[in-house]
Amino acid sequence: MEMTAAVLYEPNEPLVIETLELDDPKDGEVLVRIVAAGVCYSDYHVMKGEWTMPLPMVLGHEGAGVVEKVGAGVTRVKPGDHVILNFRPNCGHCHYCVVGRPVLCDGIETPRFFMYDGTVRLHRNGQDVHHMTRTACFAEYAVVPEAGAVPVRSDMPLDRACLVGCSVMTGVGAVTNTARVAPGSNVVVIGCGGVGLNAVQGAVLAGADRIIAVDLLDNKLEYAREFGATDVVNAGNGDAVARVVEMTGGGVDYAFEVIGNPRTIEQAYGMCRPGGTVVVVGMAPETDTFEVNALSLPRTERALLGSWYGSARPWVDLPKLADLYMNGRLKIDEMISRTYRLEEINTAYDALAAGEVARSVIVFD
Ligand code: APR
Ligand code: ZN
Repeated sequence: MEMTAAVLYEPNEPLVIETLELDDPKDGEVLVRIVAAGVCYSDYHVMKGEWTMPLPMVLGHEGAGVVEKVGAGVTRVKPGDHVILNFRPNCGHCHYCVVGRPVLCDGIETPRFFMYDGTVRLHRNGQDVHHMTRTACFAEYAVVPEAGAVPVRSDMPLDRACLVGCSVMTGVGAVTNTARVAPGSNVVVIGCGGVGLNAVQGAVLAGADRIIAVDLLDNKLEYAREFGATDVVNAGNGDAVARVVEMTGGGVDYAFEVIGNPRTIEQAYGMCRPGGTVVVVGMAPETDTFEVNALSLPRTERALLGSWYGSARPWVDLPKLADLYMNGRLKIDEMISRTYRLEEINTAYDALAAGEVARSVIVFD
């Protein structure tokens, strides 16, 4: 079939809106009509050339839509089902899948810009076009692996559900799955964009006491208050580490870095009290490194954790997050600052880069 998509041909060039050919789903694959897709910073890393990925590529990994067609052997979804796209579809059989860490699945041998069989379903004039994280949802339609299309209750609006597929799962999951923040803990969240705001509301869900939000922009700190931050610190005014240590009488129990910047990872470490835990959620450019004083690790027993996709178990966690939203326990409406059409996607990314929005969503008819 033919459909419209946003294609990245070169880093630091605008996405090109054009017609692509999309093959039918093969065995074990699902065709999804995309209804909404979130504008996340992770795609922007690729647009800026900070992560090497094969181009051309259709970006987009925070999507939701309706199943149109299923390939042979698909049993977990059927046409008409509402689904959230899962950008870490997993094999179900490897060591990591079996121990309950599907985000770390290493059972699929092909790179995640192709379907499992190592080929693509996207083409233009005979040229192959790659699928960002096997989701490629900056497009009217996407073919995804069955494990990548997670059913969601049909009473949840899909323009909300799409955000569950990345920012909500990544931010809330970092707190509840990766760190398992205990009630009464003091928490700091550095970086209050789409993902960081969800770490803030994850801390609320977990019953944290002080929830300190840190950002450079006052509008982001206002969003953070709306999402449940008890205190805010503008890192542009003075020494944010000293402020947080002073406010908490020695540092927080959990520090979440949700930017992907080595300097703010170092700040997160500095904000942690002895025995505290640093959780790096933000994804840095590929070659960046940060520094930690080696002796301080044993002497203060701080823990340093990475969190990818909120340590998601997507087939359990995505429907659960949808329930929490539908039961009024998670804010998603408040995250959506703007909606755009696919044709306006470059403008949407300019607004993200300028820090104008909590999140914006691309909506399709
Ligand atoms: N100190 C404090 N805040 C900062 C700093 C800094 N040095 N630099 C940037 N920020 C803030 C921005 O003002 C913004 O509010 O970090 C926030 C980043 O949010 P978004 O741009 O909305 O990015 P988001 O989509 O939330 O992704 C954040 O998580 O999953 C990863 O790849 C993703 O690395 C990215 C990170
Ligand atoms: Zn994302």
